Amino acid sequence: MSQDTVTSADAEARARAAGVTVADFDPECDPAFKEDPLGTILAAQQYGDIFYSTAARGFWVVTRYDLCREISQDAAGYSNRETFTFYRNPPPVFQMPANLDPPDHTKIRRLIAPLLSPAVVRRLEPRARASVAAIAGTVAAAGGCDFMADVALRIPAEVFLEHMGLPLARADEIIATRLLPGKLNASNDPDGTLLAAAVADVRTMFEEVVAERRRRPADDIPSHLLSQTVDGEPLRDEQVLQLCHTLLGTSLGTTASTMAFLFQRLAERPELRRRITETPEIVDGLVDEAVRCFPAIPMVARTVRNDRDVRGISWKEGDRLLLLLSAANADSDVFAEPAHVDPQRGPARHLGFGAGPHRCAGALLAQMELRVLIEEWHRRIPEYHLGDLSDLTHEVSVAVRMTSLPLVVGAPSA
Ligand code: HEM
Repeated sequence: MSQDTVTSADAEARARAAGVTVADFDPECDPAFKEDPLGTILAAQQYGDIFYSTAARGFWVVTRYDLCREISQDAAGYSNRETFTFYRNPPPVFQMPANLDPPDHTKIRRLIAPLLSPAVVRRLEPRARASVAAIAGTVAAAGGCDFMADVALRIPAEVFLEHMGLPLARADEIIATRLLPGKLNASNDPDGTLLAAAVADVRTMFEEVVAERRRRPADDIPSHLLSQTVDGEPLRDEQVLQLCHTLLGTSLGTTASTMAFLFQRLAERPELRRRITETPEIVDGLVDEAVRCFPAIPMVARTVRNDRDVRGISWKEGDRLLLLLSAANADSDVFAEPAHVDPQRGPARHLGFGAGPHRCAGALLAQMELRVLIEEWHRRIPEYHLGDLSDLTHEVSVAVRMTSLPLVVGAPSA
C-alpha cells in the first residue's frame, strides 16, 4: 500500500461515524493493481458495500451492483464532471461527452449517436473480418504472437482509425501516443508533464485533420461533427477536437483490453474453445461474458451533487465516488457463480459498459469487434496456449490493460 496518501478529513470522519470501513484503496500507486487489477478490485468487496478510501485525495468506493447501477442512472444526483477520482494530480483533460452533465450531455450524445449506430457498425464489420483474417493468418504462420500488440490493439485501429479521419499508415504511432496516458501516473510522471505532452500530440494530429476537413469534407467523424449544430450554433473547433480526442481514446485501448483478458482465459480453457467451434451460436453470449468479467473500464467516477444520506451514510456535495463496475459484475446476489465465464448465462445485465445516460456510446462497435475476433480467429486458430507470462504486468488508469500477452499457436507440449 502507498505511503503518500492525502485524506479528506471531513469525509473520513463521516465514514467512521457511520461505521463504514476506511481503507487505503489506491489504484494509482498500489503495485497490486499492476499485478492483477481486476482481482484487486474484486478483493475490495471485503470492505463492504460502500467504504472510504484515504488514498490520493480521498473518495468513497461502491462495490455492489444495485448501488452502482442506481448511481450511474441518477445524473441529477451525481455529476460526471470529474473522471480521475483516484489520482493525486488529476490530468487537466476535459472529456466530451463524458464530463458533461444533462442537459448539455444529452445534446452532445445526440450528435455522436449516428457515428456509432447499428448501421455504421454493420458497415464496419467487413473491415473487421478482413483485419482479423489477415492478422490471424500472420500469427498462424509465425506460430505465435504478442496478442496485445499484434492482435488486440491492431483490430480496433484497423476498424476505426479511418472512420476517425486518421491514416492507417500512422497506426503504430497513434496507438503508442494514445496508450501513453495509461502508462503514466504519480509514480512515473509526478507533475503530469509527460501526460500533458501526450495529450498535446493527439490534439495536434486532430487539429490538422479538422483544418483539412473544413476545406474538403469527407465521409468520416470529423467531417460529420463539423456539420453539426447545438442550440442552433455550429460546433466550435474546440468541441470537435475534444470529441475526436475522446472517441479515439475510448475506441482503441478499451476493446483491446477486453480482447486480451478474454483470450488469456480462452487459452486456459480448451473446453470453452471447443464450444466456440462446435456451437458458434454461443459467441454473442461469450461477448457479454467477456465484458462482464473483463471490463476494460472497471471503475468509473461520480461526484455527489447535493447532500444526501445513502445507506445511513452522510454524503456531502462534492464528495468523490468511485463505482467498482467489475466488482458489481461479480455481485453474487445478481450473478450466480460470478467467476465462471458462462456464455449461456442469459440476457446481459452487467455494468461493463456502465448504465444510465453515460452508458458506453461505442458498446455496439466493441461487441462487433469482439464477436468477429472470436469467430474469425477460432476458424483459423482453434488451438493455442499461453507463452511465458513471467513479465506480465498491467497499465492502470481509468482503463486497465495488459502490457503484453504472449500466445503460442497449437497445443502445449506434454
Ligand atoms: C469492451 C470495450 C469497451 C468497454 C468495456 C467500455 C466501457 C465504457 C464505460 C464503463 C464507460 C463509462 C460509463 C459511465 O461513466 O457510466 C464508457 C463510456 C464511453 N465509451 Fe466505452 N467501452 C468500450 C469500448 C468503446 C468503444 C469502442 C467506443 C467507441 C468510440 C467507446 C466510446 C465511449 C464513449 C464516447 C463514452 C462516453 C459516454 C458518455 O459519457 O456519454 N467505448 N465506456
